[in-house]
Amino acid sequence: MSEPTNPEKDVTDAHSPDVPHPTDEAGINLVVQAALAAFAAAVNLDELKAARLAHTGEKAPLSLANREIGRLDKSEKAAAGKLMGASRGRVNKALAERTVVLEAEDAARILVEETVDVTAAPRRRRAGARHPLSTLQDRVSDIFVGMGWEIAEGPEVESEWFNFDALNFAPDHPAREMQDTFFIDPVDSHLLLRTHTSPVQVRSMLEREVPIYVLCPGRVYRTDELDATHTPVFHQFEGLAIDKNLTMADLRGTLEHFARQMFGEDASIRLRPNFFPFTEPSAELDIWHPGAKGGAQWIEWGGCGMVNPNVLRAAGIDPEEYSGFAFGMGVERTLMFRNEVPDMHDMIEGDIRFSEHFGMEI
Ligand code: PHE
Repeated sequence: MSEPTNPEKDVTDAHSPDVPHPTDEAGINLVVQAALAAFAAAVNLDELKAARLAHTGEKAPLSLANREIGRLDKSEKAAAGKLMGASRGRVNKALAERTVVLEAEDAARILVEETVDVTAAPRRRRAGARHPLSTLQDRVSDIFVGMGWEIAEGPEVESEWFNFDALNFAPDHPAREMQDTFFIDPVDSHLLLRTHTSPVQVRSMLEREVPIYVLCPGRVYRTDELDATHTPVFHQFEGLAIDKNLTMADLRGTLEHFARQMFGEDASIRLRPNFFPFTEPSAELDIWHPGAKGGAQWIEWGGCGMVNPNVLRAAGIDPEEYSGFAFGMGVERTLMFRNEVPDMHDMIEGDIRFSEHFGMEI
């Protein structure tokens, strides 16, 4: 197997024709010119390093020629030494000059590349925003807490008894059909997703001592299709007051105060007869909304009434001694007409741009 030819190997050979004789002024000059040309051609410090190794390294023609001086006759040594010294001086000087230039260029490039623009807009982490449905529920809660009421809670997976039976919906009562219900499998578990916050009325009466003044904001479910004004998952707030001698006047006064806190001093309310199995008498609540988009007007807001004695009895409260009133409104609906949100989709899609423009205060 023959040795592979190595073109660089010739350079190591002192007798190579590429290596001029140390007294050969023209030959040495060519080698010097080649070095100067290589330094001038180097456009960065890496290329200059390669040129330096090739033209001044141990195996460079000039270095090899220099090494030959030792073998020369005495008579030739002085001239060769002078020629080689001058030649190597030229090469080193050119190398030093090119080094200064390329180092300066390199420094200038790094300065530009690593420039920090102190005037650039900072990249901030988005802080997010509370959902307006949450802030609205908080605001409603605050108004009632301000009147000395308590906040009550109940489960979203509710038993049929709390959602319907205890609220005086007879098993075959058509009122049961009023609310399209998600029942939970198996049917004989008698569990469902609560269709309103009214079951919390019964839970509150069973759990608390009279007198009771509670507000329950919470999520409810009905088998509605999602469109601009309906969603199968929405929120209500329920109010319940149980005390001695409560009348429809107390209900009216409470709702009027609430309406003014929410919609300003010019707001007022109107009650229209209605039917709910769990209140008697029952009423539809309308709000006179002075700031409505299309001008001041009556807007349907929710249901209310005096707690039906059958409901008091189901919760173990004597209707001869105590009476109560209750009301319930939709949070989404309230947000729609209070803050001019025409499309329900905006409330459920979770786009932060929607929530952000409400800020913390709505
Ligand atoms: N629960 C009723 C509904 O969802 C509203 C209501 C609450 C009516 C309390 C009267 C009393 O429509």
